[in-house]
Amino acid sequence: MRRKLLLGNWKMNKTVTEAKVFAEEAKHLGKEARAHKIDMGVCVPYIDLVPVKKIIKNSLIVGAENCHYLEKGAYTGEVSIPMLKDIGISWCIIGHSERREYDNETSEKCNLKILALLKNGMTPVYCCGESLETYEANGTKKFVEEQILKGFANVSAEDASKVVIAYEPIWAIGTGKSASKEIAEDMCAFIRKILAKLYGRRVANKVRILYGGSVKPNNIRDYLLQDNVDGALVGGASLEVESYKELLTNLL
Ligand code: PGA
Repeated sequence: MRRKLLLGNWKMNKTVTEAKVFAEEAKHLGKEARAHKIDMGVCVPYIDLVPVKKIIKNSLIVGAENCHYLEKGAYTGEVSIPMLKDIGISWCIIGHSERREYDNETSEKCNLKILALLKNGMTPVYCCGESLETYEANGTKKFVEEQILKGFANVSAEDASKVVIAYEPIWAIGTGKSASKEIAEDMCAFIRKILAKLYGRRVANKVRILYGGSVKPNNIRDYLLQDNVDGALVGGASLEVESYKELLTNLL
């Protein structure tokens, strides 16, 4: 049985001061989530990681939104995996569509990051998803398949089951136009089929596949009731403690 997973993604939001307020108010939620066999957490800007982790401890998952794939070196402005590990961070979003769009993040680069995270015993949350143009041209499955195949290159079967995938159609992110639960289920099932071809059914059935894109307290339940949707990656609705809390309570 795959445990449900509810992950927030703050993107470039919250100063340390704001992040601390959120953490204080949200820190008890992990216990409640676990009591219902749900893993819950939040991915935050680098600068918020230490203060948020200090308050939340191990109650909720605290993850990063990006990392570099090399251990160290002359890469001004970057943060390495050993740096994250050193402050107790073991989850990291990789290949969010905003990074793919604005920071030239290719699936090949994502693959290097995924391999490096796995080597360090960490959990990559690998994002995939198509643009509106691709969606309207009926190119979604081909596009997403390529992202998955490239992202998982050289990932062993044993490691593959440790990766979390987030299917996030770009046209649904931050637009309020969420994909229907049928689309989310169809795409998550499709991704699982790709994984089954690569690694066999047993491994594919272990991988958690999330849906993301305008998930709100009032629609999260519809998605998570789908067979192949194991959770949600939530942007906007994870920013205010009230709605973050409601994402959980509306699932119970
Ligand atoms: P959204 O963002 O929930 O605000 O649409 C989701 C995401 O980008 O992960």
